[in-house]
Amino acid sequence: MKELLAPINNFLHCSTPDEWVDAAVKSENRTVLLTDHMICELKAAQTAMWLIRRYAVDKESGDALLAWLAPYEDFIYRKNGSFESLSKLKNGLSKQIKAREDSPYGQDLIDKMVLLIKEELHHFYQVLEIITARDIKYDNISAGRYAKGLIKHVKNHEPDTLIDKLICGAYIEARSCERFAKLAPHLDTELEKFYISLLRSEARHYQDYLTLAEQIAGQDISQRIEFFGQVEAELILSTDKDFKFHSGVPAS
Ligand SMILES: [Fe+2]
Ligand SMILES: [Fe+2]
Repeated sequence: MKELLAPINNFLHCSTPDEWVDAAVKSENRTVLLTDHMICELKAAQTAMWLIRRYAVDKESGDALLAWLAPYEDFIYRKNGSFESLSKLKNGLSKQIKAREDSPYGQDLIDKMVLLIKEELHHFYQVLEIITARDIKYDNISAGRYAKGLIKHVKNHEPDTLIDKLICGAYIEARSCERFAKLAPHLDTELEKFYISLLRSEARHYQDYLTLAEQIAGQDISQRIEFFGQVEAELILSTDKDFKFHSGVPAS
């Protein structure tokens, strides 16, 4: 686990403050923590889907991606379906996702993102299983400030937009991984095991986003990475009235 976390901790500009961990382990925050975690898993899948639909895949593949995520979105945003109905879905794509001819980014972006979507949907399903077993009633909750706080700095001309979004993706994945590791020892055995089991894939997601950003840029982007690292740390270290999975220091 140490080798897994070392590059993550090195990449992030700060570690999660103890005050956030103290709030996260409180039983009164368990429903928010798990619900927000579940929604974050879907958002991670949606972000990856959005990226390849926007930049890489042909129309037919884009439609297949939309159809793949639709039942999960239906559950989260319209409360249609349940753990049982989602468990009947095959977690996969029936067709191969192909790059469109004019896409300069190609199959590597697609392959990494399709695997990421598969894994995030599996995580989503695992959190829903825990929520259902614990008799937690699902209610949609508002998004925290974190992702918005990063995305607002994304440049609005290409290819910088894509590169910035990939860098943001790397930070979100890295922070999630760091928080799972930090929280795990303070939770009940089931959640501890679950969070530890997520580390490996989230660490790879961070690495995939970073590698793609570097490949697509084709030049040194360390200053841009540094910039988003500072923005990210600011969101983690400043006071935040709203408790969420990626929130800042809880206001006392
Ligand atoms: Fe995940
Ligand atoms: Fe992830």
